[in-house]
Amino acid sequence: MPRLSVADNLTIRPYTDQDLDQVLEVLRDSLGETALLRRTPELFRWKHIDNPFGRSIILLATDGDRIAGVRAFMRWNLSTPDGSSIRCVRAVDTATHPDFQRRGIFSKLTNAAVEAAVEDGVHLIFNTPNPRSGAGYLKMGWTEVGQIGVQIRPTIRMWSRNADPDQLPNPADWLEPVVDASDLPALSRPSAGFRTGRDEAYLRWRFASHPTARYYKAGDDTSAAVLRPNVRNRRKELVLSDLIGDDVGLAAKAAARASRADYMAGWFSSGSPERAAAIRMGLLPIPRVTALTLVCRPLVGDLPLNPRTLASWDLTMSDLELL
Ligand SMILES: CC(C)(COP(=O)(O)OP(=O)(O)OC[C@H]1O[C@@H](n2cnc3c(N)ncnc32)[C@H](O)[C@@H]1OP(=O)(O)O)[C@@H](O)C(=O)NCCC(=O)NCCS
Repeated sequence: MPRLSVADNLTIRPYTDQDLDQVLEVLRDSLGETALLRRTPELFRWKHIDNPFGRSIILLATDGDRIAGVRAFMRWNLSTPDGSSIRCVRAVDTATHPDFQRRGIFSKLTNAAVEAAVEDGVHLIFNTPNPRSGAGYLKMGWTEVGQIGVQIRPTIRMWSRNADPDQLPNPADWLEPVVDASDLPALSRPSAGFRTGRDEAYLRWRFASHPTARYYKAGDDTSAAVLRPNVRNRRKELVLSDLIGDDVGLAAKAAARASRADYMAGWFSSGSPERAAAIRMGLLPIPRVTALTLVCRPLVGDLPLNPRTLASWDLTMSDLELL
């Protein structure tokens, strides 16, 4: 890759494994870290190196030996109703060190990563930016696809707010941990839109090998709910990350029966069987509440569906959050 000059002393170059510690420092300094969200080397490697869709495109802006900015595009494949496989990248970890912000580093790194993705034959970029970077993406040619809402199944305990904010609930006594892909049914239903295929390699990586989040299962060998315990605003939350298998209605009911959290939360695309099953189990959409904004940038003109409309996407919480 040519060394591009960003400003007087800044150059853009690809990430190498020796950069890991400094990259994590930049991410921590700019994005912060909480007791429950640690930016560990293991999490970075899980996302960007060990991902079954491939190694991420990662570019750095450097000032001499110092890393001023980081830009990572994580690989992801989506399938569509006509059976095509769409090669995607997700514009995830991006940070400019506070000493270097508002000098165009984010824009230049992102444009250089887009060029690398085009050269590599990537079809589509999608991501859920935070409010700080959202405007920057729209300026660079991204389109807002739509708002991702929240579905909640409350219990009376939702008003108690007595959970320890730094300690995850441990549901191992009543839920089965997902320790291998074989704990989950590798049954991928046909796509109703852009959808992540759930094969064994994906399930192993996404749920069993996650270095920081712990996933649990309710259901049986053919239909399972994938659950992630969390604490939010001092409440015990159980995230319904996914519903997989033959009978997602059964899996949703098993999740409701097993939950001892203060409330359950999740989100499934409109029109999907998982959303219908979740609603039947009491996981109801909360009007006017938005969790994330989905944005995209197609890199080719002949995608089988229009990615710029939310109706073309067939997603669940496990596709959106990568904790
Ligand atoms: C968001 C972030 C990556 C931007 O980096 P940067 O190198 O300072 O950005 P640039 O100078 O290239 O700015 C590009 C555009 O982004 C937008 N932008 C950047 N910083 C912004 C800010 N603080 N407030 C509002 N808009 C901002 C602007 O539209 C800007 O264009 P302009 O300068 O022509 O107005 C940086 O502020 C950062 O690291 N923030 C903390 C980490 C973070 O939030 N990452 C995003 C995770 S999704």
